[in-house]
Amino acid sequence: MKKLLSTVTILALTAGISMSFAGDKPKKMGSCGACHNNTKDGVGPSFKKVANAYGNAKGIVATFNKGGKYTKADAKVAKFANKYNMMKGQLRKIAKWSDAEKKEAAAYIMKQK
Ligand code: HEC
Repeated sequence: MKKLLSTVTILALTAGISMSFAGDKPKKMGSCGACHNNTKDGVGPSFKKVANAYGNAKGIVATFNKGGKYTKADAKVAKFANKYNMMKGQLRKIAKWSDAEKKEAAAYIMKQK
C-alpha cells in the first residue's frame, strides 16, 4: 500500500510539473522577463501592449528576423521606441533562434492580448 501511494504521489508530481510547462512561457523566453512582464510595463513594454501593437504573430516573427538591422522606425510600440537599442541587442540573439522557436515566442506574446 505504501509503495502504491508513493507511486501515485510521484505520478501526480510528474503530471503537475509537466502541466505547469504546457501553455507556459517558452523556455527560450526565460531571459525576456528581465525587461518584459505580460501585463505591466517595465524596462520594456508589457507583452500585452506588444500584442496589441502588432495584432498578429507574423509581424512579431518579422521583427525577430530583423536582428541587428532593427531600427527605431521598426519599433511598433511608439511609447517605447526611444529604447529600441535595448531591444536591438536582444534581437541579434533572437534572430538566431529556429523558425519554430520564433513562432512559439510570437504566439505566446499574442496570447497576452
Ligand atoms: C534588456 C531589456 C530587454 C530584454 C532582456 C528583452 N527586451 Fe524586448 N524590449 C525591450 C525594450 C526597451 C523594448 C521597447 C523598444 C522597442 O520596441 O524596440 C522592447 C520591445 C520588444 C518588442 C516590441 C518591438 C516593437 O516593435 O516595438 C518585442 C516583440 C520584444 N521586445 C520581445 C522580446 C523578447 C521575446 C525577449 C526575450 C527573448 C525580449 N524582448 C527581451 C527591452 C528588452
